[in-house]
Amino acid sequence: MNNKFFINIPVMKEISYPIQIKAGLLSNISWIPKEYKKIVIITDNLVKKMYGIQLKQLLQKKSYEVMIFSFAAGEKSKNIHTFTKIINSMLKCHCGRDTLILALGGGVVGDMSGFISAVYMRGIPYVQIPTTLLAMVDSSVGGKTAIDMIQGKNLIGAFWQPKSVIIDTSCLETLPKKHLINGLIEALKMFLIYDKVNFYFLQKNTEDILNFNKNKLQKIIYQALIIKTSIVSQDEKDNHIRMILNFGHTIGHALEKVSQYKILHGYAVAYGILIEAKISEILKILPKKQFFIIQSIIQRLGFNGGDLKKLNIKEIIKNSKIDKKVHSGKVNYVLIKNIGEVYIDANNHYVHPVLDNIVEKAFYEVCGV
Ligand code: GLY
Repeated sequence: MNNKFFINIPVMKEISYPIQIKAGLLSNISWIPKEYKKIVIITDNLVKKMYGIQLKQLLQKKSYEVMIFSFAAGEKSKNIHTFTKIINSMLKCHCGRDTLILALGGGVVGDMSGFISAVYMRGIPYVQIPTTLLAMVDSSVGGKTAIDMIQGKNLIGAFWQPKSVIIDTSCLETLPKKHLINGLIEALKMFLIYDKVNFYFLQKNTEDILNFNKNKLQKIIYQALIIKTSIVSQDEKDNHIRMILNFGHTIGHALEKVSQYKILHGYAVAYGILIEAKISEILKILPKKQFFIIQSIIQRLGFNGGDLKKLNIKEIIKNSKIDKKVHSGKVNYVLIKNIGEVYIDANNHYVHPVLDNIVEKAFYEVCGV
């Protein structure tokens, strides 16, 4: 199956780029835009060994001038030091505005490469080539680029859309199960906020998907991206509807920070979804029965609210307050009113301030204490 579709972002100016989903795209580079001769592959040390060297050689065979810059895998590298190091290497190699960046890797590589592309010589083109499920279903599409600061995640960044997104699903064959789950959580989030039909598809096929069933995984990627592109094309700069993609992330980001990024992003979001769905239920926005359905799929993916017992909710709430979503000191939450539907209030707001005591109550109920 070859899925190719376009994302159109008409809000500011006409921006449109293709997203291709197919096994084997990394070994057939016909998708490289023809006008570039100088290419910089940005990747991490693990992906470099798995796919980077091979891609570099393939490009060199086709007479491209290719450089590869890598850094240690993991969120801890998504910082100003890695950013400066790569920029310095690019300057040393005389990379000009005619250079194309290939962001080869997971979400960290995508965010870092995207941010470098956004600011290097005031902006150069890049192609997102996600190799993890998390990056395939979410972070590679939509042009959010960023690095982390000690104060919090993604605090410095830019909106900078890629030239294209190339999803080679054969990369999933080498993906460890924990990273498969990491990405599935973002797909689950997408369905919880926007798409009841595919939520139930995921619910019915959880075991097959956890066993890497190729067709079902490809369907999940495609359907998640249909949602993502639909949302981003309505609100590129995250001013209204795009904020719903942050369901589960207010708590999720705080958990990542409290764990010093030892917990995987999707795992933190899984607990975030549980707590934020529980907040929705406590506020009588989400029916109890729907909460239990959500809790049950999260459990089947391996997450129990009880795991959170050892954490300090006050510290999590404190950390949730250092976030881009905070306005006038209020922490904003995406709430859901049904599976596949977010709560939008009478003033058409997609995010809602929630009192600390409600967050605490949700946390203790989810933990079972
Ligand atoms: N991952 C959330 C967004 O792209 O807006």
